[in-house]
Amino acid sequence: MTCGLFQILMISFFHLIELSSQQETRFVYETFRGQENLYLDGSATVLPSGLLQLTNALHHQMAHVFYKESIGLSSSRQLSFSTHFVCALVPQPGVEGGHGMAFVVSPSMDFSHAESTRYLGIFNVSKNGSPSSHVLAVELDTIWNPDFEDIDHNHVGIDVNSPLSVGIASASYYSDIKGKNESINLLSGNPLQVWVDYEGNMLNVSMAPCEVQKPSRPLLSQHINLSDIFPNRRLFVGFSAATGTAISYHYILSWSFSTSRGSLQRLDISRLPEVPHPRSEHKNLSPLFIVLLGFLAIMGFCTLTGMYFFRRSKYAEVTEAWEEEFGAHRFSYKSLYKATKGLTRMDFLEEEVLEKSTEEISFQTEK
Ligand SMILES: *[C@@H]1O[C@H](CO)[C@@H](O)[C@H](O)[C@H]1NC(C)=O
Ligand SMILES: *[C@@H]1O[C@H](CO)[C@@H](O)[C@H](O)[C@H]1NC(C)=O
Ligand SMILES: *[C@@H]1O[C@H](CO)[C@@H](O)[C@H](O)[C@H]1NC(C)=O
Ligand SMILES: *[C@@H]1O[C@H](CO)[C@@H](O)[C@H](O)[C@H]1NC(C)=O
Repeated sequence: MTCGLFQILMISFFHLIELSSQQETRFVYETFRGQENLYLDGSATVLPSGLLQLTNALHHQMAHVFYKESIGLSSSRQLSFSTHFVCALVPQPGVEGGHGMAFVVSPSMDFSHAESTRYLGIFNVSKNGSPSSHVLAVELDTIWNPDFEDIDHNHVGIDVNSPLSVGIASASYYSDIKGKNESINLLSGNPLQVWVDYEGNMLNVSMAPCEVQKPSRPLLSQHINLSDIFPNRRLFVGFSAATGTAISYHYILSWSFSTSRGSLQRLDISRLPEVPHPRSEHKNLSPLFIVLLGFLAIMGFCTLTGMYFFRRSKYAEVTEAWEEEFGAHRFSYKSLYKATKGLTRMDFLEEEVLEKSTEEISFQTEK
């Protein structure tokens, strides 16, 4: 009897573990080769190196990548999640970089109504703040849109159902070593780490360059009730990116996600795939280089003309008064040189005999 009860208890105990592990979603992509469990649309593609490329350098593109399985959360549990990803925004040389990318939480993977450019593939003109939008995005925005109340062209924002961010800050990180904020250039093309943590109605966003640990202070910390935004608690997580006339390559290098903060798997930052950097088609010359090149050209020209006139004046033959009457009776220095079998001018000066015997010869005395 007691044995039977124990068995029932044991079975229900294991059943509970199974249930709770079902509710917990946890995954890590150190490479995107194989594309398991990923939904890709638009320009999104996985490169042979294992990089996830959202957009390439074409105009007006959109891309979405989602983890295919929804993160179902039971109504009894508080909604929470943690994610850590490494991305790179690489502009095309000589072209304005844009528009940016975002980490997205949505009850649907269908973004066919969304628009590219400043809507980042998430929003559209009419989808402006309507609670029926049901979307949360953490944007890395590289274009300054005053009508979305953007603060600059290099910012991070938290968007709830609207491209008008509820929380916004210039891209930077708190350096624990220096004890101050350090700015980050989103369009440097270098890999960037981003962390998004949600727990107890607080959404924190942190970022840092790859060589830096997660900062102790988040860049953005926003009070948000996700249960309000997503009443049906069946959510997809992923990324969106878009270009316009401004274009950037948007890459995800690696991605870790968990619905429980404690079990978020670490990313091995030392083993990230290489980010390709596009070569400029027509080399962009810096103004300094152009000035230097011009200076060198002028210097070269001056030297050449200087040498020409120097040589000309050195070997110039002076016409003397008597010659004008009787016509020139002169030998060129060259023919004299040949005739004397290589005696130099100095030899002439030294050898008086020669000088006297050739009265007709005139030459310019050395100065
Ligand atoms: C904007 O998106 C919503 C769906 O989210 C759609 O119903 C609406 O038609 C779209 N508007 C435009 C102008 O595309
Ligand atoms: C968010 O940041 C605040 C301030 O640093 C911290 O107290 C809180 O625990 C953080 N929450 C999450 C979910 O990371
Ligand atoms: C650093 O950045 C954070 C987030 O943008 C801001 O709240 C804080 O005031 C900044 N600190 C300093 C010292 O500038
Ligand atoms: C968050 O929103 C849900 C649904 O609207 C509500 O039941 C809950 O009390 C809210 N939580 C807080 C802390 O406001």
